[in-house]
Amino acid sequence: MYRTKFCPGKLLILMTILSLLSFILKKEQHVLNPTSNSSTKRTEQEMFERENPYFPYEAFKMKRFVRNCNHFPTFHTISFDNSYWQVANLKSTTIYIFSAHFDNRTYPTIRVLAETVGRINQLTTKCYLWFSINRAPVITDIKLTYLYGKPSFYTKKHSLYTFPVVISCLIPKRDNIPISISIAESNCSRISNNIKIYSANSNEKSGVSVCLKGLQYNSDMSKQLTEWIEINKELGIAKMTFYIYNIHPKTKQLLEKYTESGSIDMLPITIPGRVPNTYFMRKELFDATVRAWVHEIVPINDCYFRNMNIYQYVLVIDIDELIVPKKHRTLTEMINSISNSFTSLSFSEVYFWSNNTKCIEGTSCDLYYFQRTLRSPKYFLDTRASGHYKSLHNTDKVVWVGHHYEGGCVSKCERRYVSTDIAHNQHYRETCELEIQSECNNKYRNGSYDERLLWRYMDSVIIKVAKMLEYL
Ligand SMILES: *[C@@H]1O[C@H](CO)[C@@H](O)[C@H](O)[C@H]1NC(C)=O
Ligand SMILES: *[C@@H]1O[C@H](CO)[C@@H](O)[C@H](O)[C@H]1NC(C)=O
Ligand SMILES: *[C@@H]1O[C@H](CO)[C@@H](O)[C@H](O)[C@H]1NC(C)=O
Ligand SMILES: *[C@@H]1O[C@H](CO)[C@@H](O)[C@H](O)[C@H]1NC(C)=O
Ligand SMILES: *[C@@H]1O[C@H](CO)[C@@H](O)[C@H](O)[C@H]1NC(C)=O
Repeated sequence: MYRTKFCPGKLLILMTILSLLSFILKKEQHVLNPTSNSSTKRTEQEMFERENPYFPYEAFKMKRFVRNCNHFPTFHTISFDNSYWQVANLKSTTIYIFSAHFDNRTYPTIRVLAETVGRINQLTTKCYLWFSINRAPVITDIKLTYLYGKPSFYTKKHSLYTFPVVISCLIPKRDNIPISISIAESNCSRISNNIKIYSANSNEKSGVSVCLKGLQYNSDMSKQLTEWIEINKELGIAKMTFYIYNIHPKTKQLLEKYTESGSIDMLPITIPGRVPNTYFMRKELFDATVRAWVHEIVPINDCYFRNMNIYQYVLVIDIDELIVPKKHRTLTEMINSISNSFTSLSFSEVYFWSNNTKCIEGTSCDLYYFQRTLRSPKYFLDTRASGHYKSLHNTDKVVWVGHHYEGGCVSKCERRYVSTDIAHNQHYRETCELEIQSECNNKYRNGSYDERLLWRYMDSVIIKVAKMLEYL
């Protein structure tokens, strides 16, 4: 038998070198952000803005001189609500403000997204546009749009129910964009909010971006989400924006990886007002109030405004949906084939039964969308007014968006319903939506279809999903 001579001296040296090496490596890991590399080390500002993307960090770090009654609010005069919202406490009501966007599609305008408890008095509520922290603000009138229902005159000041609004403020003749905006009642009233103005520009708009509502999942959704993201990339989606209430740490790690690669944006969100914002409590609240979906309007419009200057189209869907073209490989090819002019394209949903799953031979049997091929035979051709459609919007023409359709257009809205021969919305559900539950078995579960439209993308997606999951 072959044996090396035992030599303690050499061993000691070797061990020292090894431990030194591991020390250096560990130290290296410690210094670098695990999801970043040395050339992308984050500054404090970047980290702050990742934590709260809606707050005007830079402006707050500047030296201030002006101290008149309309001075730029200091940090301790701001009234925050559930981390990301800021409060405007008006005589008439309370407004929770989320974000503000520069919109130059008609006139230079700031669009402020908020939720209000009661009716906002349009005559006494003003926009304070801050062009400099050391100059008095430009004070303008507001134009108010209720995005989803209108509070009654009797709504209490501290109700749990809130109503999403967009407060629009025209910028008076000026070349520059304000740095931030406050909403307050009258001149020289105490200003308790200060929102960063988001403004992104691209020389040439193109492509399709997806907007989603807030995610809240306690369990790890990495596998299903990776598959959903990769399928959408195959469909030609250039960017997906996720708002995060609560997700599993592993899912977060995955979404951070996708954020770095530029395929997605990830933004934090809570619900405003005197409500809980922890996982189970918020779920309870959403189950207890049938108005849970009201809180989806602000994030999908925040996403819409963020993307309107960069992408030509914005599609509003959830992760249990996929818009799949039938005659084209990508959505962009499908859109280009539609010759009529349109402001929005709307797609009929068709149920894909989510509890009916079959393993596909030659795969790992844990795919989500590909393994669910059994669908309802019925489309929703006759119920256009109801919520069975999802839409894609031309960002030049649609001002703001709802869950299913456009909310308003720059001029006339021209919505087109896309034929189900061209594309449909695969909606993955166990059973029918509540309002058609009574006719579910007779109409929507009468017979079934094995639809494998998605399998065109399977080989490519499986490889990408596996590669992505390796990082976790
Ligand atoms: C580091 O980050 C830069 C900038 O995002 C990127 O171009 C480069 O490929 C990254 N390098 C590694 C080794 O990940
Ligand atoms: C807004 O649009 C007008 C007209 O197209 C243009 O002249 C102006 O420069 C734009 N403003 C900004 C800040 O981009
Ligand atoms: C607001 O009040 C200040 C100080 O009293 C005054 O100088 C300014 O003109 C007022 N602005 C408006 C728009 O009323
Ligand atoms: C799926 O769920 C629905 C309703 O919950 C039920 O009627 C159906 O039998 C289930 N199908 C399977 C295959 O479990
Ligand atoms: C179910 O489908 C069959 C075959 O398409 C049809 O004959 C029957 O009338 C349908 N039942 C109901 C209740 O619609």
